Amino acid sequence: MSAWFDRYARPRWEAAEPYWGIWCIPQSQLPVLPARASGSVAVELGCGSGYVSAWLARRGARPVGVDVSGRQLATARRLQDEFGLHFPLLQGDAERVPLAAGCADLVISEYGASVWCDPYRWIPQAARLLRPGGRLVFMAQSVLARLCMPANGPATSRLVRDLFGLHRVVRAGDSGNHYRLFTLPHGETIRLMASCGLVVDDLIEVQVPPGAANHDFPEFPDQWVRRWPAEEVWFAHRDPASSVRTARPTPGAVARPPG
Ligand SMILES: C[S@@+](CC[C@H](N)C(=O)[O-])C[C@H]1O[C@@H](n2cnc3c(N)ncnc32)[C@H](O)[C@@H]1O
Repeated sequence: MSAWFDRYARPRWEAAEPYWGIWCIPQSQLPVLPARASGSVAVELGCGSGYVSAWLARRGARPVGVDVSGRQLATARRLQDEFGLHFPLLQGDAERVPLAAGCADLVISEYGASVWCDPYRWIPQAARLLRPGGRLVFMAQSVLARLCMPANGPATSRLVRDLFGLHRVVRAGDSGNHYRLFTLPHGETIRLMASCGLVVDDLIEVQVPPGAANHDFPEFPDQWVRRWPAEEVWFAHRDPASSVRTARPTPGAVARPPG
């Protein structure tokens, strides 16, 4: 899918103001990046073409982009050269990040690990990377969107998937391929984070501003997003009192409520 995602790379690299998600909502309306990033070490998990890291670098942060795809990182390197803005890019799996524990002030993912990696693997990694008090921010499609989207075709006004057991979701791609995405119910995400020493600060269920256009994702009709959030942004921090954990929680062992 690297070639398909290329369309997002240069426009976002060259944007004066960061903007987010499918509807390109500006940072001023959807403040995903922290107000103060200067001097902070930021690890982007599933950085793709690296535009989020580029935005952070322009704000004075010291980003490190991690992505499993050599082709995506080649795009990121090409754009680094083009814009004269260089930061470390690391080829690696966000479920097993080759960086030291406690190295990051901020771990961030926009449709990277937050969508493509198993939360039971990548969220403990994010917690491990964060220093005490460090922040985790990630954006993904909403739980509600997943529940309303069948394996093929657009979001409907009916629930077509079960909330209980929601974890791995398969969707059909344009060319007959299938891909695998991850989503957990909100309560399970909160409990998973707590088990890794992360404290949830906020969850924004993104409301698309009037007039915002979606050119690339016909699975979200305008009438659907007028009523429901298609995207969500999580904000958490590592509890300063918690110790760094490296063990991987497993579904059921941590997150499910009694009974
Ligand atoms: C839709 S892109 C989003 C990233 C970035 N915001 C962008 O648009 O360029 C998803 C990225 O996640 C990466 N990815 C998927 N699985 C991964 C994994 N296990 N570890 C690290 N990166 C992964 C993909 O290679 C891809 O670059």
